[in-house]
Amino acid sequence: MSERQRVWVSRPIFPETLTTLGQYFEVVAETVEQKLSAEQLKATLMDVDGAILGGGDRIDAALLDGNKRLRVVANLGVGYNNLDIPALTKAGVLACNTPEVLDESVADYAWALMLAAARRVGAAERWLRAGQWHGMRFDDWLGVDVHGKTLGILGMGRIGQAIARRAAGFDMPVIYHNRHRLSADIEQDCKARYVEKHALLADSDHLILVLPYTPENRHAIGAAELAMMRPHAVLVNIARGGIVDDAALAAALREGRLAAAGLDVFEGEPAVHPDLLALDNAVLSPHIGSATAATRRAMATLAVDNVIAALGHGPHAGHPPTPINAELLTK
Ligand code: DGY
Repeated sequence: MSERQRVWVSRPIFPETLTTLGQYFEVVAETVEQKLSAEQLKATLMDVDGAILGGGDRIDAALLDGNKRLRVVANLGVGYNNLDIPALTKAGVLACNTPEVLDESVADYAWALMLAAARRVGAAERWLRAGQWHGMRFDDWLGVDVHGKTLGILGMGRIGQAIARRAAGFDMPVIYHNRHRLSADIEQDCKARYVEKHALLADSDHLILVLPYTPENRHAIGAAELAMMRPHAVLVNIARGGIVDDAALAAALREGRLAAAGLDVFEGEPAVHPDLLALDNAVLSPHIGSATAATRRAMATLAVDNVIAALGHGPHAGHPPTPINAELLTK
């Protein structure tokens, strides 16, 4: 009898998704969150046919060197800046991600951060819990309005569009900038107007970043860009750490050149820049944009479906639903 294919799962996921995997494969599943060194990751991947990975697992050419067994890696997330796609393609390893299933939950969360930052929810709650509420002060805890203000979106893929569609309920005009201007139909559906990046920075009352991380996008929002923003503006980053220069952002928040920020992602996370930690006008969360029970289950299920199909099993054998380097499937 031939050996069962083996799949490694790099981080704890839901038991039922592991059970599904187990119907087809020998499953090696990590039970605690841990970051393997490049050497450990390389050694682990040598002995498996497929892997389900988190954004912290970096796969590049050096890591794939000498690996004759690996056929598929499935990222638990839509972003895949941890994967060197050309190197995977060259090595004949299919890469998959989890687009679409998380769009609406991440869009909800962008709004949660924007509202929380604008209305100072985090700082007010910390103050209350610290027992400092001894009476109402009419002129205390003044935030900035969201309704009726101009919403700017940098990066207008599916998640950006979902964020834009929610703006109608807050009576907010939407402007956006994107590598490619959207079709007139989509612009109309999102009620969003295309502007150049400098106009987006200058005219947004609230600016949400939703662009993918690429080396070119590193510090796309740095000191110069922050200087172009309105002093009452709120900046939200739900995209990737490194898109914002966190030190420059902390300086702008500290000096009142920006009203507030809502940040779910950080350069070098899980480490957070100490200057941000010291600020009350920054709402900080630990990369939880897609973290609802339903969405995380849908992401895990999609990753598992990709691996099952890529390794030639199940109803969609040979046709994984969301490949990134799909050209490998036609070879
Ligand atoms: C994503 O889907 O890319 C989220 O950021 C989770 O990593």
